[in-house]
Amino acid sequence: MRILVVGSGTMGHGIAEVMAIAGHEVKVVDISWDILNRAKEKMNESLNRLYEKKVISESPEAIMARISMSTSYDVASDIDFGIEAVPEIFELKKKIFQYLDEKAPKTAILATNTSSIPISEIAEFTNRKEKVIGMHFFNPPPLMKLVEVIPSKYTSEETINETVELTKRVGKVPVRLKIEVPGFVSNRIFIRLVQEACREVESGEASIQDVDSAARNKLKLPMGIFELSDYVGLDVVVDIWKVIVSRGGTDVKCSSFEKKVSSKELGVKTGKGFYSYPGGRYVKVPLPEDSKADPARIISLAVNEGAWLIENNIVNAEEIDTVMKLGFNFPKGLMQIADELGVDSIVKNLEDIEKKGEKAYSPVKLLREMISRGETGVNAKKGFYRYT
Ligand code: 3HC
Repeated sequence: MRILVVGSGTMGHGIAEVMAIAGHEVKVVDISWDILNRAKEKMNESLNRLYEKKVISESPEAIMARISMSTSYDVASDIDFGIEAVPEIFELKKKIFQYLDEKAPKTAILATNTSSIPISEIAEFTNRKEKVIGMHFFNPPPLMKLVEVIPSKYTSEETINETVELTKRVGKVPVRLKIEVPGFVSNRIFIRLVQEACREVESGEASIQDVDSAARNKLKLPMGIFELSDYVGLDVVVDIWKVIVSRGGTDVKCSSFEKKVSSKELGVKTGKGFYSYPGGRYVKVPLPEDSKADPARIISLAVNEGAWLIENNIVNAEEIDTVMKLGFNFPKGLMQIADELGVDSIVKNLEDIEKKGEKAYSPVKLLREMISRGETGVNAKKGFYRYT
């Protein structure tokens, strides 16, 4: 298959690499040769690491030989599949989809790796609405197994099936949303974790290290919430947060993330975010073992969001857990953790914070019903899952 990746930043170069590893011919387009050469270096570095660890058996040189680069959209003229992975700037995506729609064969599917913008809004800029779809990868793409597949209200069943098949063929696991929602499943939940982490710190309940230590040492997540935000890019986090809130999501008053972005401290890529990363390289953040932060409180808002997604028939509990395990390397699914910590404890935390004036924490209907039915999780033998 001939695949075009537009944008060669953090996600774009990783997606191109994944496609080339799977044997596809890949064209990468970006605005300058400086950016493209940097992407080439990063792909080389990553492929060498995978080769040394025997994750791949083909030589990095042979894989790189399938990747070509360009600063012109003309290379789209013979592609089968296009994937856009540029920053979350709506006007930029609009321009790119208009170009791609004009240049690419009418038969080509055009996917977007947007992390939050509804796909229908992007599809509307093309004359092939039924062939536009969301294909959301996770950072770093060569390691993370998940791809969220997000059909818009226009996407045809054929486009969905082809995208699901391509996802499987490149060794990834697709989770298909039934209906698109801003932020999809992954980032609606991720932003809720970020918002609660931010609220705890700004209200003085816990420090940044407390939250991150509890996330890593008590919840056993691979990264703390602030650490993960630095890894993703604080500008990206703020963009996703804004997209969700501007399209109806309830907000949580918290300014630490926006302040970091205003002072150009964007996380790993700028060498400084909530933590420091000399040379702009990620290194595991040193954290204390002890923490006064409560894990049930840290995940409470995210579980409320998960319950909302289930209640609205967008995905089920298993699908949410697949997203968190394969997209964020959680050792267990979020809803499973909620069952273990107790749905009653989650709801108690939500109500406590709601009383402080935070409307977003109002427990959703499904959680209230579960409490009234006594479905409080593992202890009650029923929560989001059944236990024998
Ligand atoms: N290519 C190839 N190999 C890579 C790599 C890459 N891009 N990045 C890391 N690795 C390898 C390292 O070489 C290392 O190999 P080793 O074990 O042989 O030494 C291994 O992966 C582990 O890396 P590190 O030692 O640097 O650090 P960790 O042990 O902490 O693992 C991690 C890094 C896999 C990223 C892990 O911390 C993790 O799973 N973190 C969570 C990541 C996550 O949640 N991603 C999703 C973000 S949200 C998103 O992308 C959506 C978007 O819309 C915002």
